[in-house]
Amino acid sequence: MQEDIRLIDLVIELLDARIPLASRNPDIDELAKGKARLILLNKTDLADPNVTTKWNEYFSDKGINVCLVDSRNSADMKQINAVVLNACAEKIERDRKRGIKNRPVRAMVCGIPNVGKSTFINTYARKAAAKTGNKPGVTKGKQWIRLSSTLELLDTPGILWPRFEDQTVGLKLALIGSIRDEIMNTEELALELIRMTDHRYPGLIDDYYGLTEVSAENLTNEAAELGLTPSFEHQMLYKIAVVKGALKTGGIADTEKSANLLLENFRNGRLGRLSLECPEDFK
Ligand code: G4P
Repeated sequence: MQEDIRLIDLVIELLDARIPLASRNPDIDELAKGKARLILLNKTDLADPNVTTKWNEYFSDKGINVCLVDSRNSADMKQINAVVLNACAEKIERDRKRGIKNRPVRAMVCGIPNVGKSTFINTYARKAAAKTGNKPGVTKGKQWIRLSSTLELLDTPGILWPRFEDQTVGLKLALIGSIRDEIMNTEELALELIRMTDHRYPGLIDDYYGLTEVSAENLTNEAAELGLTPSFEHQMLYKIAVVKGALKTGGIADTEKSANLLLENFRNGRLGRLSLECPEDFK
């Protein structure tokens, strides 16, 4: 990425609208120093629209150009050209003063794995996907997609690693599915999801699965025998298993199954459009 960035004027940074800060690698500020910047809040179809509006204001207040997109939807691409020109207004003016006319803006898409970089490039470039081929000299070996007379996109996205210094960042990335479940404890993860959603969207999980009528008495009794009190989140997983008939032999609630189901329903948007981060959390 460091190598490619020399060739471009504009960095298009994709963030997941459900967790814009956790899906952002702060190294980008150093990497993209001196370049025009545009943030795409992607997967807005899965995020809470009210919270997304707040994130739009948050980044705009910092002087960064923002677009809200569902990268699978070509209608969402229409807004981008104007914002690109706005983000690159200084460069275009500089070119004009030097007598350079119509040199296209060269852009690069970057972001953490799975944030939607390829999907965005494909949808955005669909109409004009003719590759320009290698350019001798500066862009040797690079593929550019000419999108219009004003914009060229580097075909290879820049991949940034997520930052794991803060454990909650890792948790949020795991919740949206950016870290393979095989290496995670899915029950722990689901308990965390319940904690996070219940804080911002109280009652939502109960309503979705119809948990209010379900008793967690068996779980409470089992725990009492061990001298424990099951947490609110644990009771919730237990109840989901009961409602969904996820039972092990002997009729014991299979909370691993209900944990997987809950995570799946969150990730595919069935629980509703939910955001796990809000600018207020960081004040
Ligand atoms: P990457 O290049 O940054 O690694 O991401 P990529 O485009 O491969 O996208 C990762 C997954 O996210 C893809 O799902 C893609 O369809 C989905 N995706 C990208 N943009 C959006 C968006 O705006 N909204 C929604 N809802 N999904 C989006 P996939 O390949 O089908 O993977 P999976 O869904 O089976 O896990």
